[in-house]
Amino acid sequence: MFTSLLAVVISYLLGSISFSILLARWLRKIDIRQHGSGNAGATNTLRVLGKGPAIAVFALDVAKGIAAILLGRLLGDAEWVPVASGLAAIIGHNWPVFFRFKGGKGIATTIGAVAMWAFLPSLAAGIVAILTIVFTRYVSLGSIVFAILLPVSFAVFGLDPVYIWGAVAITLLAVYRHRKNIVKLYKGTENKLGGSKKGEP
Ligand code: G3P
Repeated sequence: MFTSLLAVVISYLLGSISFSILLARWLRKIDIRQHGSGNAGATNTLRVLGKGPAIAVFALDVAKGIAAILLGRLLGDAEWVPVASGLAAIIGHNWPVFFRFKGGKGIATTIGAVAMWAFLPSLAAGIVAILTIVFTRYVSLGSIVFAILLPVSFAVFGLDPVYIWGAVAITLLAVYRHRKNIVKLYKGTENKLGGSKKGEP
């Protein structure tokens, strides 16, 4: 039990390493949370720093999710451990202890975690999300669609309930973190991929 809890705590700390904040500081000496949408994530890194840094941030944030699950499986003694460690990494990304609890929206870290939980059901949700982004150019809408579809896809694929409940928690976290995006989508003022920047903080 001790090692299981240790895996969850380390996963939270790992999630708290915000690569968009670190890269923006390192490359431009700025706080990314004061630029673009104000979000500490890959999409806002693309807006503020460009393609290369955005790809790096996305890959590193996905890797945090993957690492958390590996850690959960390594140190855990039950199925709930990798589920809890994945959620802990996402929570760390969203509310990072190292950056005054102001982080991102957790989607890239979610991708890493759920791909490890169950690859094919996650891929199914991911394909719909990518199509949503391609056709609407709203990354936020694609992210929300992805998070909402995850528990549905997990249930359709007949996964163990611990994963379905884990996915429900992800949906709630993602919708909560995207609440301002949802308002902007409704008002038609949300930023489009490659479009002009609206709603700066
Ligand atoms: O994953 C974050 C994305 O869904 C929205 O980011 O910066 O447009 O609010 P942003």
